Amino acid sequence: MKISNSSFSFFVPLVNGLMRLGLAGVHQQINLCNESLMLEKLPVCGKFFEGMMKKVDSKKWCNLTEFIMYYNNFTQCTEREANSASCFWPNPLAESFITGIHKQYFSNCTLDNVHWEDPPDEILITLILIPVILTCAMIMLVVWCSKRSDILV
Ligand SMILES: *[C@@H]1O[C@H](CO)[C@@H](O)[C@H](O)[C@H]1NC(C)=O
Ligand SMILES: *[C@@H]1O[C@H](CO)[C@@H](O)[C@H](O)[C@H]1NC(C)=O
Ligand SMILES: *[C@@H]1O[C@H](CO)[C@@H](O)[C@H](O)[C@H]1NC(C)=O
Ligand SMILES: *[C@@H]1O[C@H](CO)[C@@H](O)[C@H](O)[C@H]1NC(C)=O
Repeated sequence: MKISNSSFSFFVPLVNGLMRLGLAGVHQQINLCNESLMLEKLPVCGKFFEGMMKKVDSKKWCNLTEFIMYYNNFTQCTEREANSASCFWPNPLAESFITGIHKQYFSNCTLDNVHWEDPPDEILITLILIPVILTCAMIMLVVWCSKRSDILV
């Protein structure tokens, strides 16, 4: 499986976003998204990611194995901050922020020097699929439980 740099930048947030949408359907979000509050909070995630990337040798910035942990932490941070401003995640504003961070660090990564080979595809696929499967299972469980209570009532 070959993933291009740009598709990767949306892939992980997209998968997490699908999870979020699924759960948001269960827990309805009542408050309106405060975009200015979110935009105030997102740079905290950027700063954190920046600090982490500084610890990684800039020659290794294109090595997925080196930054996937921090990247995952970074996307989780943007999700947390978006949610704390009552915003759905991902949303266009948060996405453009994430893309900006991407341009800053991965703009020089070409497919030639991005080492998608490690971790192997199977690990990558597993990393992506496990949350999806778990989410589906959780949604099914909730639906099943609510049907059960319908029967019991
Ligand atoms: C949105 O957040 C800002 C703080 O950044 C706050 O001043 C404002 O009152 C909030 N707006 C709403 C509608 O809650
Ligand atoms: C990428 O980083 C990992 C972990 O530090 C390392 O084992 C691997 O050799 C690196 N790959 C390349 C091509 O530099
Ligand atoms: C992820 O971020 C939290 C703080 O936001 C930090 O405590 C934790 O150590 C980070 N984990 C990794 C793997 O960097
Ligand atoms: C990308 O390359 C340009 C020109 O070589 C350099 O100025 C810039 O700092 C590099 N950016 C990153 C994120 O490595």
